[in-house]
Amino acid sequence: MHCLEAARLAPSAENVQPWRFGFVDDPIVKTKLVKHAFSGIYRATRWAEQAPVLVVICARLDVVANRLGKQMTGIDYYLIDIGIAGEHFVLQAQELGLGTCWIGWFSAKGVKKALHVPKSYRPIALLAVGYPRQNSVRQRKRKVIKNIHFYNEYGQ
Ligand SMILES: Cc1cc2nc3c(=O)[nH]c(=O)nc-3n(C[C@H](O)[C@H](O)[C@H](O)COP(=O)(O)O)c2cc1C
Repeated sequence: MHCLEAARLAPSAENVQPWRFGFVDDPIVKTKLVKHAFSGIYRATRWAEQAPVLVVICARLDVVANRLGKQMTGIDYYLIDIGIAGEHFVLQAQELGLGTCWIGWFSAKGVKKALHVPKSYRPIALLAVGYPRQNSVRQRKRKVIKNIHFYNEYGQ
């Protein structure tokens, strides 16, 4: 609930709060979800079955913010909204000692089928949530600071 509360407080374009978080911890439902979400080309994500909880983050597209907005700017604001809310969730989970992995490689169609998600919602991301192994801190490979910014004008 703490993680959900952190996600609930996230900002969103036009404050439409397009998210709906599904929690799957029932082994039978999880097996069904894994079978449908991680088949065929998505098989590489089968490892997620080992997580005690899979969180499914869905979005419902708002007419003004997401359809008209996209036409004007070309930006899919709901994806940004889901990214921010999902990261709020992830950071709160970390604070509580939980481990998470953001999953983007899954069949959205399969998720909808397995969990009976209504037509109006689109699964955008899954989170595998569990307790990390002791001393499992890995080095994070990241670009160096000088390669990810610019001051005033690009190239300066
Ligand atoms: C949008 C997004 C989609 C991702 N999809 C997957 C995925 O489908 N499978 C997976 O194992 N990891 C996935 N990840 C995790 C990334 O691979 C991981 O965060 C990145 O490699 C950096 O690893 P680190 O944070 O452990 O250093 C995803 C992360 C993001 C942000």
